[in-house]
Amino acid sequence: MCGVVGYVGSKPATPIIVDGLKKLEYRGYDSSGVAVLDRDGLKVEKKRGRLAELEKALTGRELDATIGIGHTRWATHGRPSDVNAHPHTSNDGKIAVVHNGIIENYLQLREWLSSMGHIFKSETDTEVIPHLVEHFYKGDLIEAVQKTVSHLEGSYAIMTISVDQPGRIVAVRQDMPMVVGLGQGENLLASDIPALLKHTRQCYLLNDGDVVELKADEVIIRDVTGKVVQKEIFEVTWDAEEAEKGGYDHFMLKEIHEQPRAIRDTLKGRISHAGDKVILDEIKMTTKEIQNIKRIVITACGTAYHAGLVGKYIIEQLVRIPVEVDIASEFRYRDPLIDEETLVVVVSQSGETADTLAALREARRRGARVVAITNVIASSVAREADDIIYTWAGPEISVASTKAYTTQLVAIYLLALYLAQERNTLAAGNIKEILNELKAIYSKAQEVLDGEQPIKDFAEKYCKHEDAFFIGRGLDYAVALEGSLKLKEISYIHAEAYAAGELKHGTLALIVENIPVIALATQQSLFEKMVSNIKEVKARDASVIALAMEGHTEVEKVADQVIYIPKTHQVLAPIITVIPLQLLAYYISVYRGCDVDKPRNLAKSVTVE
Ligand code: F6R
Repeated sequence: MCGVVGYVGSKPATPIIVDGLKKLEYRGYDSSGVAVLDRDGLKVEKKRGRLAELEKALTGRELDATIGIGHTRWATHGRPSDVNAHPHTSNDGKIAVVHNGIIENYLQLREWLSSMGHIFKSETDTEVIPHLVEHFYKGDLIEAVQKTVSHLEGSYAIMTISVDQPGRIVAVRQDMPMVVGLGQGENLLASDIPALLKHTRQCYLLNDGDVVELKADEVIIRDVTGKVVQKEIFEVTWDAEEAEKGGYDHFMLKEIHEQPRAIRDTLKGRISHAGDKVILDEIKMTTKEIQNIKRIVITACGTAYHAGLVGKYIIEQLVRIPVEVDIASEFRYRDPLIDEETLVVVVSQSGETADTLAALREARRRGARVVAITNVIASSVAREADDIIYTWAGPEISVASTKAYTTQLVAIYLLALYLAQERNTLAAGNIKEILNELKAIYSKAQEVLDGEQPIKDFAEKYCKHEDAFFIGRGLDYAVALEGSLKLKEISYIHAEAYAAGELKHGTLALIVENIPVIALATQQSLFEKMVSNIKEVKARDASVIALAMEGHTEVEKVADQVIYIPKTHQVLAPIITVIPLQLLAYYISVYRGCDVDKPRNLAKSVTVE
């Protein structure tokens, strides 16, 4: 996920573009850059780090251009560096491009272009784009861009400028956001509306395949067939801060709603076309090395630790290797039993959590191989691990983690299925069956989001309570822990998660009249047992919200309210079961008037012990 901005008009372009990028920093912030066209040609400045670094580099540079493009990056292909930062340029240095998205076939394109003499400077997928535009340019930039995109596989929002076609930006989008801002004698383009609001509230919303020719006094949009289309003007009524949150009230809600996209992106390219194999080229272990693994230890903190707990159930079930899950701050000081036959998996959204990083170092010191699951390219965890599986959630701004958790689960499922494949612990038919369901899981996540109204109603009903319990068995227990953490961290309600079978060994004493109990009963094989546990708490007059898979209507006889999740393979249920719990925590927090995105005493990245 990155942010792109383009400007053409009569004012100095650079400050307008940089200012627009500041409004998009939530889309990525590991490097940034601008390219402008002035009397002397194309000028490019780009820098690793936050936008302040770019601003420093621009100080004193004479860029009196009135047209340009800019980019703020969240690295996908190639680590954050000055060279990998956008804009990228063509061989002849006349064309500059910024891009948000992923070009899946860039390696083939790069090879093809190299064979014709093109020289590449960066490790990015994007750099093939200006080279392709150069290759196809025969005097018409629009035609060259159209030909270029016909060769691209993947997702993109692209902006192009060329020395030979001054006064215009040519842009195109496919599966990535981009809007046109309409000004007086000036026009803009951006990934998102916040970058435009200082200049205009009138926009064109673009469709996939639309090609935009942006000039100071004219905007021409052609659809995928090349036909000029007339768009309706969209009038923005939100203020700038609201717009940054994509119209949602909080980043947390926006990020909850981004989960279908984040899940799909994390799966992209990691399942074979036939749908029968996991492709994890990022794991460099040989089959022999994988077969020699005797134990797996997963270590992480907080929400990432909860994702690890799901990992234990899944890996033990599918791969039949013993798995231990350890809180990183415990692991590092416990003199852990780790050796060369142990595979250590560290999970960290930020890749910078001090305890997780220390656990990783401890594991490597003791000779273990370390696989990292992280959301941040070139983070410390990514740099120090032996193998990295990136989650493609995009930047997570809200302190309470949501899309990072579901994408961590996806990465863990892929890893488990990959190990099962390499160790032959699961029949090919079973792998295919789970993968088929996994491919469909993002649309089921969307279904859950579309049906949020009853959850909102429950939140209103229960927001005044000061205690709540979450119960579940097996995978549902692991998800219950995450549900209770979400509730406590953003609503300050005391919430406990229990393995449902454990209640009667002590905690049942706390179950009193009307206390909310959220009972997770999505696991087919444990369903009857959960029904008994729900009866136990109902017998103490608790108020029970049950979560079950569609079709399991028997639960209505024992619970006060039921939230159904779409049917899926029971091992995959955590990915969608957690979503109603995130929404419940979110709305309760809103009803209680809490600071949802910045809960008290907490920080997004915990880089101290
Ligand atoms: C809770 C939350 C935290 C983090 C934890 C680890 O919503 O976000 O519990 O999961 O601080 O952070 P990372 O994953 O960055 O290592």
